[in-house]
Amino acid sequence: MQIIHTISDFKNARRRISGTVGFVPTMGYLHEGHLSLARRAKADNDVAVASIFVNPTQFGRNEDFSKYPRDLARDVALLEREGTDIVFAPEASDMYPEGFATYIDIEGPLTTRLEGAVRPGHFKGVATVVAKLFNIVQPTRAYFGQKDAQQVLVIQKLVSDLNGNLDVVVMPTVREPDGLAMSSRNVYLSPQQREAALVLSKALRLAERLYGEGERDAECIRAAMRRLIEAELLARIDYVSVADCSDLAELDVVDRPALVSLAVRIGATRLIDNTPLEVLQ
Ligand code: PAJ
Repeated sequence: MQIIHTISDFKNARRRISGTVGFVPTMGYLHEGHLSLARRAKADNDVAVASIFVNPTQFGRNEDFSKYPRDLARDVALLEREGTDIVFAPEASDMYPEGFATYIDIEGPLTTRLEGAVRPGHFKGVATVVAKLFNIVQPTRAYFGQKDAQQVLVIQKLVSDLNGNLDVVVMPTVREPDGLAMSSRNVYLSPQQREAALVLSKALRLAERLYGEGERDAECIRAAMRRLIEAELLARIDYVSVADCSDLAELDVVDRPALVSLAVRIGATRLIDNTPLEVLQ
């Protein structure tokens, strides 16, 4: 495995690659969710590349950029086990040199609703860094997790609007045995908070159950989820949503493919999770 720290070294290495390239962009501190993407990238392509870059432009002023967990040596060892061929871990000063001035701002509902409403500018940072990484890595396929469902919609829009020459592959959310979606931020949780964090997946299972039993009133589903979460004293709701998958508009009636998603603060830690609802007759 090769570890490359500069954009110019990566571009030199890229010129020597023939065949398909599978790419997994990450911010590091890897867990089984990231590794499932790396495994798939290796299985589907001639060469598998993972990037590790805690992207400053997608963090808000009061967010956790400086304390975001980092452990490059551990990440490299985990990726080596998955057969990743190249790890690209650039410096912020290389990605955003002095005078950097070009950002990608996707207009409209996909970037302003849900995470976009709570984290203004977040998706501008995500779209900008992902577009830069796509230009540098030039992947055949790029792998993203359903865990960040809105991010997937934003990346698909970016690729389609800018005519990207790659396939976006979406992989299922990997969970702990008790249901908690894996996240690098789970390390912030105390044992008591870790227990309280189960309300996210419990609320999603409740939504699935209600929908399975025939409930089609979206507000009833949202209200039931909110009640379940509010019963957990350590949890504070940012949003609970049952929205149209295509534009993330809140639904009145679940009569089309929907995304149930939520963001909940457990102490100072903000967690997100989601589940799609298939259209059942
Ligand atoms: P990060 O949070 O490190 O996630 C990297 C990729 O792993 C994303 O596609 C994310 O959806 C996926 N992932 C995270 N947890 C997962 C889980 N439990 N199951 C399956 N996949 C999971 O998302 C980012 O980084 C950044 O925004 C990035 C795209 C790298 C741009 O900076």
